[in-house]
Amino acid sequence: MLLSLASQRSVLFFGGKGGVGKTTVSSATALAMADAGKRVLLVSTDPAHNLGHLFGRKIGPKAVRLAPGLDGMELDPEKTVESHLQEVSSALRRLMPAGMAGEVDKHIELSREAPGMQEAAMLERIAEVVEQHDDYDLVIFDTAPSGHTARLMALPEMMSVWTEGLIKRREKADKFTAVLNTLGKDRSVGNNMLGAEPAAHDEDRESKIRRILNRRKQRFANLREKLLDQNYSGFVIVLAAERLPVLESIELAKQLKRTGVDVAGLVVNKRLPAEGLTGFLAERKAQEEIHLQDLNTQLGHIERQDLTLSAHDVLGVDDLRAFARQFAN
Ligand SMILES: Nc1ncnc2c1ncn2[C@@H]1O[C@H](COP(=O)(O)OP(=O)(O)OP(=O)(O)O)[C@@H](O)[C@H]1O
Ligand SMILES: [Mg+2]
Repeated sequence: MLLSLASQRSVLFFGGKGGVGKTTVSSATALAMADAGKRVLLVSTDPAHNLGHLFGRKIGPKAVRLAPGLDGMELDPEKTVESHLQEVSSALRRLMPAGMAGEVDKHIELSREAPGMQEAAMLERIAEVVEQHDDYDLVIFDTAPSGHTARLMALPEMMSVWTEGLIKRREKADKFTAVLNTLGKDRSVGNNMLGAEPAAHDEDRESKIRRILNRRKQRFANLREKLLDQNYSGFVIVLAAERLPVLESIELAKQLKRTGVDVAGLVVNKRLPAEGLTGFLAERKAQEEIHLQDLNTQLGHIERQDLTLSAHDVLGVDDLRAFARQFAN
């Protein structure tokens, strides 16, 4: 299921509860596709830098070569917020009258701590990566544990609405400025009231602000469209055959569905081997089956791939290749 899904779609997201194997499974899928001749970009949105640990090297926000045909990058939410705010701040400083620099700084400081800021900044980076991935046939996202990812998927729509609101407010302000400008002969009175520069610059500035907001809105709208396009992108939930991961996966699938994103595949990782179990392990295996029946009742319509628990850790490119061999089964 994993390989056929990865060859049909251009963008895959891997999500799920902590520690179930998102990084391992997404990396092994990315490597297998690169080995099959695709140009693949593997992107982690998890602050814990698991990709670097798995591949045994430093990976940053710029793509680095991990294996032939496979590049990787790690997006750090905090750093993403910082660079995002710096961009916004310098754009605002350029566009706002000089006297308002203090206001801009205050606004930026408040924004840094605002709820959803990290997600919004991260989403903008994800949108950028998805927009500019012409060098790759496939982009695979290894995401941070569950709740975060579902919120992220809902965000493009929220962000579009939010940006739309800002644009409308700007338009109202434009009209207000125009009215003030026509009042009386002394145009500087109206302009001074708004703390603005002379009118000729106003129009220029307003249209720049609007252009920036529109570009942002367009970027979120594009991402949303791509997330909803099942020929283009897909969401894979990774889980273990245990009670809580099963319950959380069912909940995650529901949340995603509410945002319009259909789950393309389920990966049940760390399954006990099918043969040769006795005593304690045989009981454990029976328990797995009970949990998977629950999964089946709720999400039986989604394609599923089971992966076996390895005796050893999966670490580095060779282990990942060995791990990926079971994808073909
Ligand atoms: N099938 C498997 N067999 C054996 N070990 C596995 C298997 N899958 C994953 N692991 C191991 O389990 C641990 C957690 O895996 P991984 O880091 O891929 O999970 P994760 O879902 O990305 O975790 P996090 O939520 O912290 O990002 C790692 O040590 C990994 O090597
Ligand atoms: Mg991980």
